[in-house]
Amino acid sequence: MALQLRRLSLGLAKFQQARNASILTSLPETHELLRKTCRDFAEAELKPNAARFDKEHLYPKEQILKMGELGLMGIVVPEDFGGAGLDYLAYAVAIEEISRGCASAGVIMSAHNSLYLGPLLKYGNDQQKRDWVQPFAGGDKIGCFSLSEPGNGSDAGAASTTAVTSADGGWTLNGTKAWITNGYESEATVVFATTDKSLKHKGISAFVVPKPTPGLSLGKKEDKLGIRGSSTCNLIFEDCHIAKDNLLGKPGLGFKIAMSILDGGRIGIAAQALGIGQAALDCAVDYASKRKAFGQPITKLQSIQNKIADMALQLESARLLTWRAAALQDEGRAFIKEAAMAKLAASEAATFISHQAIQILGGMGYVSDMPAERHYRDARITEIYEGTSEIQRLVIAGNVLKEYGV
Ligand code: CAA
Repeated sequence: MALQLRRLSLGLAKFQQARNASILTSLPETHELLRKTCRDFAEAELKPNAARFDKEHLYPKEQILKMGELGLMGIVVPEDFGGAGLDYLAYAVAIEEISRGCASAGVIMSAHNSLYLGPLLKYGNDQQKRDWVQPFAGGDKIGCFSLSEPGNGSDAGAASTTAVTSADGGWTLNGTKAWITNGYESEATVVFATTDKSLKHKGISAFVVPKPTPGLSLGKKEDKLGIRGSSTCNLIFEDCHIAKDNLLGKPGLGFKIAMSILDGGRIGIAAQALGIGQAALDCAVDYASKRKAFGQPITKLQSIQNKIADMALQLESARLLTWRAAALQDEGRAFIKEAAMAKLAASEAATFISHQAIQILGGMGYVSDMPAERHYRDARITEIYEGTSEIQRLVIAGNVLKEYGV
């Protein structure tokens, strides 16, 4: 299967031109094939197990390994470094399909690809890519991203974790990172720490830290509302010593690295939200098509049709925004505003659609015999992580005002 994805990547270049003109109507053949591969996998391996992963807080280990074999755990990583060599549109399409089967698998894949591999690919030197990308691109090992802290959520520039140079030229890290997706299973993390507090955000630097490492411990596994198959915890650094070569880019570049990586990450979360929204719509339509009330299938009722229309409208608009943001990223054009729009639209769509799905299912939407309540719980986080909806609005407004020269 990984070979199949790699072959797809060879044909990718010739679709680049046509692709961006056509995604308003349909995906290129390459991406359609990928979509089908991911959909079949999600139907067979994720959907039947998602309720159990959720209920038992179970990390989907076997499925993540299979996703690695499919090439999904290093999807935009060049083949030279063991990846599938596909593009960001492919990444968005794949995350949506995986999340449609299981939102936890979706976020594990997204955090690993965007937030762990992303900074190493974009800012790492060749040796760092060999050490920290190649062994992780096949899904045997996964990574995480340590930016937030207990005292700084949205205000990412206010990091208080420190990194101080040591006698051997290495770095010693102290501080606590919070809400770390993949915290338990990851075998390395990209960490942001301040190397010069007086410079505020310009004094933040990025490092890669292996796990386990002496001086790095894990907090408790958070008991979350949704995406319960993925782990979230604190990473606690206490005199944690790492080598000089574990600095990513230059000292002081960390905030820019984090911000630019989060732009791409937001496309991943938008795609995750699309998958959750699609799953909730699938569930609502399936139920409505079988349910009778007032002597007729409820799909004949205007009130149900209105809901289905609004759900589909929000989903499809958000999907177009997501594909546009991914296509812009593939073309190397500015996509900060577009990624924020995609995430905002898709996460609000997922919240709305999963809410409406419960309304259509009525009592059956409120119990765990049906997946609607899980989709509702899973959707909620997409409005919080990788920048809350409030932060996305701030980013969008800032860019729109800039376009007006304000
Ligand atoms: N790309 C590159 N550089 C950027 C940038 C971007 N998207 N956005 C800002 N910058 C640069 C600016 O150009 C500026 O540079 P200079 O100092 O050289 O002029 C610098 O960063 C500071 O910019 P701002 O003044 O705009 O920064 P700010 O402190 O006001 O905050 C913010 C900006 C948008 C609110 C930012 O803090 C932010 O995005 N916060 C949300 C944090 C977030 O998303 N956290 C998610 C955690 S990870 C996670 O959730 C993972 C998971 O579990 C799945």
